[in-house]
Amino acid sequence: MAKKVILDVDPGIDDALALCMALFDPRLEVVAVTAVGGNVSPQLATRNVRAIVEQLDPPRLPRLGAASEPDQGLPVDSRHLFGVDGLGDAGLEVAELLAPHPSEKIICDEIRAAPEEVTIVALGPLTNIARAFHRDPELPSLVGRIVMMGGTVAGPGNVTPAAEFNIFCDPLSARAVFRSRTTKTLVPLDVTNRLVLGFDVLSQLPEETTRVGRLVRKILPPAFRAFRQESALEGIHVHDSITLVAVTNPELFVTQEMAGDVEVRGELTMGATVFDRRRVPAWRHNMEVAVDMDVHKVAQQILRNLAHAGKSTEGL
Ligand code: RIB
Ligand code: CA
Repeated sequence: MAKKVILDVDPGIDDALALCMALFDPRLEVVAVTAVGGNVSPQLATRNVRAIVEQLDPPRLPRLGAASEPDQGLPVDSRHLFGVDGLGDAGLEVAELLAPHPSEKIICDEIRAAPEEVTIVALGPLTNIARAFHRDPELPSLVGRIVMMGGTVAGPGNVTPAAEFNIFCDPLSARAVFRSRTTKTLVPLDVTNRLVLGFDVLSQLPEETTRVGRLVRKILPPAFRAFRQESALEGIHVHDSITLVAVTNPELFVTQEMAGDVEVRGELTMGATVFDRRRVPAWRHNMEVAVDMDVHKVAQQILRNLAHAGKSTEGL
């Protein structure tokens, strides 16, 4: 039976790629795609989610959720990496900008509709999840699992020396989710940074004659250019796609139970994730953390998923 998932995203090219993979994966039933501000503003994230879903036109249309302003505003601007529209300035059209329900309401509804069955795949800041938990305090125990992309265990951050982007954007929400009773898996930068998709990927993308091919061929080349300019990297990181693979193919990952929290203040360390890794920890384990993955097989899985998504949208 397909696994019910809610994709909570801040597209973002990385998130858009994960959406392409998830919406056509027969192992997943995407019940909702909820937008959150992060790589782009809440308004743009909402628009991008709709534009991507409209462009891909998947066989089963998920419910869509609108992002709202985070309490502290967004501290980071990712335009240098993902372009002004967050999608490499792909110029995607939106047919009709309906006013969707807020993301946190959609999350509450869908979890309540299928208690303990839904996995939330959180690929952006944890604003929506924290708000859903605040709105419905019983919700944390009704979620099947949250699989989150974010944080670091031992490595450096990617937005400050200490903090990873998703956690840094909204540390208070991240702390609330980390401390919640929900069953959690974290896929941190230490692991996702190990995979760099090289330029050769561009020749393996689905054809232009497919809806998925048309989208990824628009958004990926600007990402390659940005990573080269910003990080002198001959390839791109795909943190969010890797996290999705952790949902569909957990056998490709090594995980460990850990006790983690988030630094919510600090001139140099705000948004850093802190794990009690002392020989005799005082904190209780509160999440499973990915500590390693089969890099080659994860890369193959991403390409296989994209190829399948391409085939599913051929000639339409
Ligand atoms: O740190 C990686 C995360 O922040 C990903 O979710 C990506 O979308 C980014 O900007
Ligand atoms: Ca993201």
